[in-house]
Amino acid sequence: KPFAPIAERLIAWQKQHGRHDLPWQNTTDPYAIWVSEIMLQQTQVAAVITYYLKFMQRFPDIASLASASQEDVLQYWSGLGYYSRARNLHKAAQIIMQQHGGNFPQDFEAIQALPGIGRSTAAAISSFAFGLSQPILDGNVKRVFARYFLIEDWPGLPRVEKTLWQLAEAMQPESEMGVYAQGLMDMGATLCTRTRPRCDICPLQEDCGAWAANRVKELPASKPR
Ligand code: ADE
Ligand code: SF4
Repeated sequence: KPFAPIAERLIAWQKQHGRHDLPWQNTTDPYAIWVSEIMLQQTQVAAVITYYLKFMQRFPDIASLASASQEDVLQYWSGLGYYSRARNLHKAAQIIMQQHGGNFPQDFEAIQALPGIGRSTAAAISSFAFGLSQPILDGNVKRVFARYFLIEDWPGLPRVEKTLWQLAEAMQPESEMGVYAQGLMDMGATLCTRTRPRCDICPLQEDCGAWAANRVKELPASKPR
């Protein structure tokens, strides 16, 4: 039974096997969630934790971040890499002070308009902080979907990317958006990994297209040359 809804299984998997005690979990403070999502964009969970705790201690809210010097912000980012993330975070905090009265916007379009926040990051923040139902599609999720839906073409093609967003939208649950989003990202990061996928313990194995076709190792397809 291909393409049976995945949300129910991912939500159950997340509740049973997911992490629930990370410093940015168990909060609905959009600022705390935003900072964590930016750090997690290109850095693994284990490496983010200490940076996150120090950053939040020094810049506990949007106002403190907005009023800091760029030098100070970059110093707290030092070692995390991809410093444009820190510059955008700083700039976005100033925009929130000027244009949103210091409150993190709750409107999806307004969130996405902030520097450094693309569609998937906006969706993660709005599902964790506000329970909005917006699909996420980061690198890990793209890999899961390319395999599960047996998508043969390189996911970097605009046509394929469009299909992936449509599938992501179609898979959205009616409730428990945050648990689903976290389960999907964690499953992609820990089970459906690029080189050592753990199909043997995957909650989606029974109807995974790549597993059924014995093509897990070949997908997602790499960039054509
Ligand atoms: N990558 C981006 N956001 C993440 C999150 N909330 N948890 C784990 N990995 C992520
Ligand atoms: Fe990924 Fe394997 Fe699970 Fe399919 S069965 S979604 S390839 S981990």
